[in-house]
Amino acid sequence: MIKILKIGGSILTDKNREAFARPDEIARVAKEVASSPLDLVLVHGAGSFGHVPAKRHGLPEKFNPRGLLETHSSVTGLNQMMVDALDKAGADPMPVHPFSCVLLKGGRIERFCVEPILEMISRCLLPVLHGDVAMDLMNGAGIVSGDQLVSHLARAMRAQVVAVGTNVDGVIFQGNPLPAVTREDLPRISESLGGSFGVDVTGGMRGKLLELLDLADFGTNSIIFNAGIKGQIESALKGEAVGTTVRRAG
Ligand code: IPE
Repeated sequence: MIKILKIGGSILTDKNREAFARPDEIARVAKEVASSPLDLVLVHGAGSFGHVPAKRHGLPEKFNPRGLLETHSSVTGLNQMMVDALDKAGADPMPVHPFSCVLLKGGRIERFCVEPILEMISRCLLPVLHGDVAMDLMNGAGIVSGDQLVSHLARAMRAQVVAVGTNVDGVIFQGNPLPAVTREDLPRISESLGGSFGVDVTGGMRGKLLELLDLADFGTNSIIFNAGIKGQIESALKGEAVGTTVRRAG
């Protein structure tokens, strides 16, 4: 049973301060993930390691070699911190950089070489991916969010648990997290979705929900939950319905 877990950059970094990590949170997340590291793909957001340099260099609208290098180097730095913390917590993590294995077309994943990730899982390794810059057949280069990676991987690997951890309790509507969301709810809740706090070039909660609704259309449910609350990651990995379930209408 393959599980895909995303931990948002808002948990691991301060989204307003460039390349500002939260080492205590990285260590806590690593411990929780290391408690059930098998058959798991971990994807983490870029936080201020990605959004701030990307925005400064005008990515993804402008093709900018310096911006690409700076943003990629910065997010791989955060990835290394996550991998080190997981190693320390007793898992067998391996970094996977989407820039080298994902090809975009108009901002959407056109090709993604997932075989090495499947091989890692079969050898009990824990692949650790992240939001990244990627080459784009139409635009030169673009940004691939962790959420798009999750949605694509979940389909390609037929994942049974898909959990997206953020710093809020799920999809919030009128002050409370909704237990479940389908595409039919979108017009009603659209206004309250908003972006994310801090600098964000990949669409915040709205972008996340759209990716996961695509996945729901494919027949795979997912959850959006608060990864800032201790214990929630473990519950999510067990397949418990913490936060908001994103599912197919009907
Ligand atoms: C963004 O990734 C990638 C870059 C800006 C390079 P995500 O969209 O997954 O990051 P978070 O979770 O919002 O921080």
